[in-house]
Amino acid sequence: MDPDVPARTLEEALNDIESAGSPADLEDIRIKYLGRKGLISRHLSEMGSLSPEARPKMGKLLNETKGKIAAALAGKLEAAGSSGPVLPALDVTMPGRKPALGAIHPITRAMDEISDIFAGLGFTAAEGPEAELEHYNFEALNMPVDHPARDAFDTLFLESGALMRSHTSTVQIRYMEQHQPPVRIIAPGRVYRHETVDASHHYMFNQIEGLAVDEDITFADLKAVLLHFAHRYFGPEVNMRFRPSFFPFTEPSAEVDISCVICGGEGCSVCSRTGWLEIMGCGMVDVDVLQAVNYDPESCTGFAFGMGVERVAMLKHGIGDIRMFTENDIRFLGQLR
Ligand code: DAH
Repeated sequence: MDPDVPARTLEEALNDIESAGSPADLEDIRIKYLGRKGLISRHLSEMGSLSPEARPKMGKLLNETKGKIAAALAGKLEAAGSSGPVLPALDVTMPGRKPALGAIHPITRAMDEISDIFAGLGFTAAEGPEAELEHYNFEALNMPVDHPARDAFDTLFLESGALMRSHTSTVQIRYMEQHQPPVRIIAPGRVYRHETVDASHHYMFNQIEGLAVDEDITFADLKAVLLHFAHRYFGPEVNMRFRPSFFPFTEPSAEVDISCVICGGEGCSVCSRTGWLEIMGCGMVDVDVLQAVNYDPESCTGFAFGMGVERVAMLKHGIGDIRMFTENDIRFLGQLR
């Protein structure tokens, strides 16, 4: 394709327009150059023979040429006293462009949904800092310096000696320091761990911690609250079980499983053929923790629990990779509206 084509076409068109004698002539010229089967369209379709680098330049030139011819036609028509449209009029029957609507981030949504469920049981949300003192992340939660349980938290330390909180259990302590029983709070927020990122681990994720302290709170209250949560969040058909476990800040402690939401408990690859999925840790608040905040363990007891928000959201929605939450791919983010 000759690189002079746009210039030559423009020159010819301007000559034709110059010598046109009537609006009908101008319409013929419009069809000849700008029509659906006109010269410009033809040249545009010939661009396939050009090199990939030359194509966009030629396309641009041809489109500019088209605009100039249209302008010249309009000018001449106007001069001739007719204002009929030279290019096809705006087609009002064309469907409009849909505005792109934003969506609530799936993690924000999960946090809201979970918070709402606990709000219905009288739990209010409490917050604490993400950059935290060792005291709140460990000591006050019954993990003194050199306690082996600290290893499990893969904590990121700051140069100042502070740390990035590795769980939101920190907020239990901060809240109890400021308030007397009865306490019913959840603590949603980001936590940080020194983890290699893979499909199920991230160095930054979200937890929701729960804490209730009052006269005569028992393990039965804990079970009832968590079963209510599981039924509301995952559906009334899920079963729940408690497995004995260990956390320094609760005694006794348990791990909570729900029946696999994928296979219904039959056993599949998601639940490693066990039929069960672990969703959180929990237990009765350790006497040492109550004492650390000057509560009287003789007059109150409490339960606590903590869950990973990404994990429960992934199970609920069948999301296979935790990295999707932070990749900002709107094809993923837009699915949960
Ligand atoms: N803080 C624990 C973690 O990050 C989760 C947890 C377990 C919180 C048991 C609790 C609890 O309040 O009682 O692994």
